Amino acid sequence: MSVQSFFPTRIYAAPLQRQPWKPFNDRLLQECLQMQHDDVAGQRWSSKNYPGGYTSYGSVSRMQQISPTFALLEKRLERHVKKFAAALEFNLADRELAMTDCWINIMPRQVVHSLHLHPLSTLSGTYYVQTPRGAPGLKFEDPRLDRFMAAPPRVADCSVENQSWVVMPAAAGSLLLFESWLRHEVVPNPVAQARISISFNYSWF
Ligand code: NI
Repeated sequence: MSVQSFFPTRIYAAPLQRQPWKPFNDRLLQECLQMQHDDVAGQRWSSKNYPGGYTSYGSVSRMQQISPTFALLEKRLERHVKKFAAALEFNLADRELAMTDCWINIMPRQVVHSLHLHPLSTLSGTYYVQTPRGAPGLKFEDPRLDRFMAAPPRVADCSVENQSWVVMPAAAGSLLLFESWLRHEVVPNPVAQARISISFNYSWF
């Protein structure tokens, strides 16, 4: 008799770089706050779609093309994306996984990012710039949830593999990568300081 596991959902987590990340994050932080200040279209978009917070998703969504600091982030993400694609055993057939979008998320207290996925992309991820103590992580949902029908609930202390939701910690200097079809959310930030992150999509051209 054996019980085997198939069809895994894989999430990649790693520090961005081996050298100290603080100086790089200080530059990113400064640019994030400057963009929040200057981006009037983004402020308008955020007030409708991201109440209480700021995102450049609806206005300046290709930060890697306009800022050398974000272009450097793209460069530093490259090896991680390659490693994750290798772990997923993608056959990319000489086509490239390339960054299409890269945007800023600033979440002060009580700001939430409800459950969503990233349509039209292959891989997505987030790099954490500022994560005050107590700020929420990234919560992922079991992609099979809509097929569970009469499945009973799991025991309260079930193993992490059998949980329906998993929260990956958000840690400044670290990144998460996942397949873009995987639904995720950020629950309300309960602390005073803003949680600041940079999200991105990769497509397989
Ligand atoms: Ni997302």
